[in-house]
Amino acid sequence: MSSTRIAELAARIAANTARVNDYLEAHDLPQPSFDLTAALNGAVPKDAPEIEAARRCVIQDTAELGDLMRTPREYLTGFIQNDLLPQQAITRFNLARSFPVGSETTFAKMATFSGLSERDVRKIVRYAITQRIFTEPRPGVVAHSLVSRLLAEDAGTHDYVATCADELWPAAAQTCNAMAKWPGSEDVAETGFALANQTNLPIYEFLAQHPERERRFAHMMRSFTQGPAFDLRHVTDNYPWGSIGAGTVVDVGGSQGHASIALARSFPSLTFVVQDLPAVVDGARAALPPDLTGRVTFAAHDFFTPQPVHGADVYFLRWILHNWPDKYCIAILQNLIPALKAGARVVVCDAVVPAPGQIPREMERSMRGFDMAMSTIQNASEREEGEWRALFEKADRRFGFVGVEMPKGSGLGLVVVRWDG
Ligand SMILES: C[S@@+](CC[C@H](N)C(=O)[O-])C[C@H]1O[C@@H](n2cnc3c(N)ncnc32)[C@H](O)[C@@H]1O
Repeated sequence: MSSTRIAELAARIAANTARVNDYLEAHDLPQPSFDLTAALNGAVPKDAPEIEAARRCVIQDTAELGDLMRTPREYLTGFIQNDLLPQQAITRFNLARSFPVGSETTFAKMATFSGLSERDVRKIVRYAITQRIFTEPRPGVVAHSLVSRLLAEDAGTHDYVATCADELWPAAAQTCNAMAKWPGSEDVAETGFALANQTNLPIYEFLAQHPERERRFAHMMRSFTQGPAFDLRHVTDNYPWGSIGAGTVVDVGGSQGHASIALARSFPSLTFVVQDLPAVVDGARAALPPDLTGRVTFAAHDFFTPQPVHGADVYFLRWILHNWPDKYCIAILQNLIPALKAGARVVVCDAVVPAPGQIPREMERSMRGFDMAMSTIQNASEREEGEWRALFEKADRRFGFVGVEMPKGSGLGLVVVRWDG
């Protein structure tokens, strides 16, 4: 490899691109493409780990090389504030669903369908085409690209994009105002989201009053957590569940019980109590696979009140604490204390943000973007290891920090704490 950074990047890009290309050719797979008929999930199969790693590496290296080839000014002004506008308009006005995949439409027909003016539709769609959403095969005629096909056919992706554009983007735009109005606030209602929606309710209470937006938000979360980074094998394979023997795990805020169900199948000696809000557990109980009856039970419990299940071996909190500012997390943890037997474990499954510069920039950017999003909607945070330690210490010094596990490929780490009381 050459000694300069740009030459090193270019060489690695060439080598990894060749690796991907050779694999696709050897397996008779189609080339990556945005053509309508290409694979919606991308050309590179996810079950070939070295090829997936090469693909990721090309994405990171091309981004860095592109950045280096720009002047600092070109780089800085390259963030275009309007980039989410076409996505907001397309999802809000259902433009991708306004004509069947494989057919064509016109700006005029899209205008009639949406109630927008033809001029606005043309602006939106032509901007979107630069983002690979739609194509314009002839002037004024619109057809689907692979990306608009995804919006037309995949309801989860549609809700994901709509929620980012319609809920999270306006909340982000108000976050400086919220920070200035309520400096350092740990109140879940003093947020950019609250200002954007002119409400004094926290986001989830606000969405509960707007059922379609609530449905869309929940669907976005579901579609987000279906990726490999959130696979439940990261939970089953990275904690010594088997060493508990015939014990009990309390899944605090366990939603539909999917983590407990996966664990129950892998560790037949364990029993599980899944706790969540009443409406959630009612639905979840009815959907429990019959073979787990008796081993996985559901109970309504508000985690801001004292824990009713005493003497369990593990209190498991997956994707709970990152939703809450410190003072709420401390209340949640302190509410466990009356139930904890000596040596009980609290296992938190949540992001563990690495120290700056420890992971590829694109990954770190995505994690820190997430951290910002938690601020914009709840004044909450993704936490670094030191922040997890400090949180438990503030909750009670008898929480003994056992350690942090960051499973490879997982979006969530495991923070393990022992009750030494
Ligand atoms: C992000 S979800 C995580 C669900 C699940 N643990 C998982 O890993 O997918 C947060 C869960 O906390 C529940 N929740 C919110 N407030 C709660 C409260 N006060 N008491 C109990 N559960 C609550 C929600 O209903 C939701 O199921």
